[in-house]
Amino acid sequence: MATFHHPAKIFLHFARKPLSRNVLSESQRRLLSFTYPRFNNCHIGDNKNNKKLKNVFQANSNRTVRKQKTKEDLARERFEEQLKSPNRFVRWGAIARSEKFSKGMTKYMIGAYVIFLIYGLFFTKKLFAKDKELERLMKKQEEGKANEYEMLRVKELRGKLRRRDELKLEEYKKMKEEGIENFDNIHVQNFDQNKLNEQILPARDTTNFYQGKASEYDKAINMEEKVILLGKRRKWLMKHCHGDVLEVSCGTGRNIKYLDMSRINSITFLDSSENMMEITHKKFREKFPKYKKAAFVVGKAEKLVDLAEKGKPSQEKDKKNNKIKYDTIVEAFGLCSHEDPVRALNNFGKLLKPDGRIILLEHGRGQYDFVNKMLDNRAEKRLNTWGCRWNLDLGEVLDDSDLEVVEENRTHLGTTWCIVAKRKGDAKKKGELGFVEKYLQSSIRKRMESFEKSNRPESEESLEPVSPTNKS
Ligand SMILES: C[S@@+](CC[C@H](N)C(=O)[O-])C[C@H]1O[C@@H](n2cnc3c(N)ncnc32)[C@H](O)[C@@H]1O
Repeated sequence: MATFHHPAKIFLHFARKPLSRNVLSESQRRLLSFTYPRFNNCHIGDNKNNKKLKNVFQANSNRTVRKQKTKEDLARERFEEQLKSPNRFVRWGAIARSEKFSKGMTKYMIGAYVIFLIYGLFFTKKLFAKDKELERLMKKQEEGKANEYEMLRVKELRGKLRRRDELKLEEYKKMKEEGIENFDNIHVQNFDQNKLNEQILPARDTTNFYQGKASEYDKAINMEEKVILLGKRRKWLMKHCHGDVLEVSCGTGRNIKYLDMSRINSITFLDSSENMMEITHKKFREKFPKYKKAAFVVGKAEKLVDLAEKGKPSQEKDKKNNKIKYDTIVEAFGLCSHEDPVRALNNFGKLLKPDGRIILLEHGRGQYDFVNKMLDNRAEKRLNTWGCRWNLDLGEVLDDSDLEVVEENRTHLGTTWCIVAKRKGDAKKKGELGFVEKYLQSSIRKRMESFEKSNRPESEESLEPVSPTNKS
């Protein structure tokens, strides 16, 4: 850019340029009007004014005029100084404000936005395709026509693969690579961890063990629970209790202090050990001496349905079946000491009201191999000390039962399982639906279907069956 120290130079500069460019900039105009107020608003292309200007410039040619710095000039100077500043933060700040930088950034922003849009489109398409596949396979499953591969694929699409499922799917994928497409009548070998891993010890009746352990149980376990902050998890478990509640394997009643009786209509405690149950009874009566609707049952979870049929009607009975039914069934660290955990879970399902939930706080195999190795190596010692199988794959137990997991959270490297389950076939509650299920899936489906419809060629549309009443 040319710099002008003298008005005459400004004039000559503009006079040489074509008419369209001969318009004074604001700062130049201000400079002229400051020096020669008469020529305020004059246009350089104007001949009459040019003459006058020439005369004035000649008359004043010996006088030097210093340009007054405007706010903009000062700001520009400061900006240029900042661009050369030795302080890198000041320098970067100036660069970030520069025109060149913002133009460059705009280009990058537009590029990033386009990439984001394309990615979003692919993601949505993929999601839609997965949704359609899941819908098709679920329908097949409901009709009882799905083969093992398809059932595993349903699990994979829902993101619920267990270790044994992953191993099975790998086998199916190998077969696919070999060109096999139809997996009807094909069953790959079983990869059940609970059956094949010799370090997961066989289930046993632990009644006698806990009969002997009862008196020292609380004292012995207190420290371990404090170290791993288990109180928080027990609180989580018991906050679900409402309506008619059943606590299975209540042990020494370690969850009683977390009970909120204002939400509970009745409560039943069950344990196979009488000595453990006595401690529960004592703790409950100390805390709630006047509460009437409480029952304390000594028995096994595997025989729960028979016990419920014989039970006194202190709880609400299902009018049709004359069976006691519960809104909430909770269990803490019980499955690992049951003789038949799958059977116990199936019994929970049978005693649940349609809207009811089973809440489990359990320990089992973790999410990492090194953890599982540790659990496996000490499995026998644990069984002898605490009567439980802490390396059990609880995912497999749950999958083998008639229940459906609606929430699964794992802590302590995956060894503590926090589970909310319902009966298969019962509807999920609003709060149990995931973000995608709740907001995206149905709207994506609707949009994609209407998009597909609008893109379908007319000839294809006319292939749709026409009912006789529609015929014109
Ligand atoms: C590890 S203790 C857990 C006790 C308690 N829930 C807690 O969180 O501290 C396991 C409990 O399950 C009980 N138990 C074991 N097998 C059972 C069965 N088949 N049916 C009912 N209770 C059982 C034992 O008597 C024992 O009290």
